[in-house]
Amino acid sequence: MNIPENKILIDIENIRKDFPILSTLVHGKPLVYLDNAATTQKPNAVLNMQNVYYKEQNANIHRGVHHLSETATFEYEKARGKIKNFINAADNKEIIFTAGTTAGINLVAHSFGKTFLKAGDEVIISAMEHHSNIVPWQMICEEQGAHLRIIPMNDEGELLLDEYKKLLTPKTKIVSVVYISNSLGTVNPVKQIVELAHRNGSKVLIDGAQAVAHTKVDVRELDCDFFVFSGHKIFGPTGVGVLYGKASLLEQMKPYQGGGDMILSVTFEKTTFNDLPYKFEAGTPNIAGVIGLGAAIDYINSIGLDAVEEYEQSLLEYGTGLLRAVKGLRLIGTAKAKAGILSFVLENAHPHDIGTILDRQGIAIRTGHHCTQPVMQRFGIPATARASISFYNTKAELDVLVSGIEKVKEIFG
Ligand code: ALA
Repeated sequence: MNIPENKILIDIENIRKDFPILSTLVHGKPLVYLDNAATTQKPNAVLNMQNVYYKEQNANIHRGVHHLSETATFEYEKARGKIKNFINAADNKEIIFTAGTTAGINLVAHSFGKTFLKAGDEVIISAMEHHSNIVPWQMICEEQGAHLRIIPMNDEGELLLDEYKKLLTPKTKIVSVVYISNSLGTVNPVKQIVELAHRNGSKVLIDGAQAVAHTKVDVRELDCDFFVFSGHKIFGPTGVGVLYGKASLLEQMKPYQGGGDMILSVTFEKTTFNDLPYKFEAGTPNIAGVIGLGAAIDYINSIGLDAVEEYEQSLLEYGTGLLRAVKGLRLIGTAKAKAGILSFVLENAHPHDIGTILDRQGIAIRTGHHCTQPVMQRFGIPATARASISFYNTKAELDVLVSGIEKVKEIFG
């Protein structure tokens, strides 16, 4: 294993020990986990925190005067404060806990859409969106009689900003774009996208699902109106996520779901809604998930996102060089600004076969359309094989990936 330079940036050997799953075997081989865009692995700090919650603190929140309920409420709200600081929101009330990125986008599409979208209005998304940032907008556009417009991209997988500028008109109510593409790795110029939209009087949602674990996010610096991400892609539990929204906008929006905790008073004649953020958190939330996400934020802060980004860029550069040298392999997504996603196709081998053969060698990648069918259509391919990097990966693991790909080539001639 040739990893000394890793130590310059982060202490990779100790970091890997924080993630029990990374030292397991798959099909008798050391696990090489390169499916981090699908979900990340969990450090002991998160696993322990959830365990402590269930063993010592479990109770419903905001509802009890007893000790456990007060403790659980305190821990839940403490996690909200951690998220607020992590993305530099102005106030805890701008942090809404959701079930994940998809739930956050559905909430905004529905609540913003019902409040602000009228027949003939337009919503702009981009050609590289995940289905979760396409379908909710299609649904609300159909309901409200609004139209969806798409920012196109070039062959490298970069958005065409001149075309975007042309799409912005007085009809544009909201622009909803991905920060980092899950299937191409493109890092979009979101600050510029926000500026252009605001100059046009349009609001902006940023899908940060693939961004928060790889680069520092400052929602006030970006000046986005909404920002969404998932806990499980930033070393936290599944089933929990965050919607950031500017308070002034959230206050004007209708609630998405009705139920307990989102009300101030209910009679059969009339309900008055609770204040932010509770207006958008109907029902018992994923309390353990939120507390676990808080632990994940503490963990990533202890490593430092600047170090993470620098290290992952070095892995990306190394992996890109290795893959470019493989004959018959074509990288899909070659933007100048890229994060640690290596999507590729191989002559004579379907991505699913690549994934299956690599799996037998203990290497986990994702294959398929990655919930971005329009991206596949744009590149004229049915699917890709995708290796996605996290800060606990090593150059040695990328060497193993390439040896695995060479085995695939041997099998498929
Ligand atoms: N959106 C996740 C991925 O890209 C599931 O794999």
